Amino acid sequence: MRQLMAAKRLNLAILASGRGSNFTAISEAISENKLNAQIKVLISDKAEALALEKARDLNIKAIHINLRNYASMADYETELVKRLKEFDIDMVVLAGYMRLVGTTFLQAFQNRIVNIHPSLLPAFKGLNAQKQALDYGVKYSGCTVHLVDEGMDTGPIIMQSVVPIYNDDTEESLTARILEEEHKIYWQSLQFIAAGQLYIRDRQVFILEK
Ligand code: GAR
Repeated sequence: MRQLMAAKRLNLAILASGRGSNFTAISEAISENKLNAQIKVLISDKAEALALEKARDLNIKAIHINLRNYASMADYETELVKRLKEFDIDMVVLAGYMRLVGTTFLQAFQNRIVNIHPSLLPAFKGLNAQKQALDYGVKYSGCTVHLVDEGMDTGPIIMQSVVPIYNDDTEESLTARILEEEHKIYWQSLQFIAAGQLYIRDRQVFILEK
């Protein structure tokens, strides 16, 4: 069993493609001194991402990298890694980053990339996880924070939170209920890393008492 990272104030990079509510929740946890970290940069693959605007409002460096300017995914990720390396980043936080992470990015940040997914993994990987859960008819769903590996939503699980599914749920109501939990467990997971409490054995993650 090995410690993921010794206790330290984390330098975070956030990658977001959209609205950025998870980014906001993490940034608030930092302001409230619940999370020992600083957000050094927010990077988006989408120029119109609200997350970029929110970062600028908070005086956090906000960068758009347009995939279309690169000949391949590997070239795009080479640029992404180059930009990230400028900021002495401990953890890269995918917060609604709607792209698969390729080998260039993964190898540069081995066990240093975390993601949040709106289902109880390994159920309902990929897009529209909330709709997948409703359509399947499960009675509980939730969200998962995990380390990113080469698979899609397959990496070692750090935390999960369960939410019930009700008869009258719509995709919107379930999404909102899950999102509330996302906003709690993402910063908590990061704080366990910052406190040096996260240990890994094979694909099992253990949160040990301080
Ligand atoms: C969140 O629900 C997150 O779990 C999901 O995108 C949303 C982003 O919201 N991520 C994925 O589905 C990744 N596969 P946000 O931009 O408001 O944080």
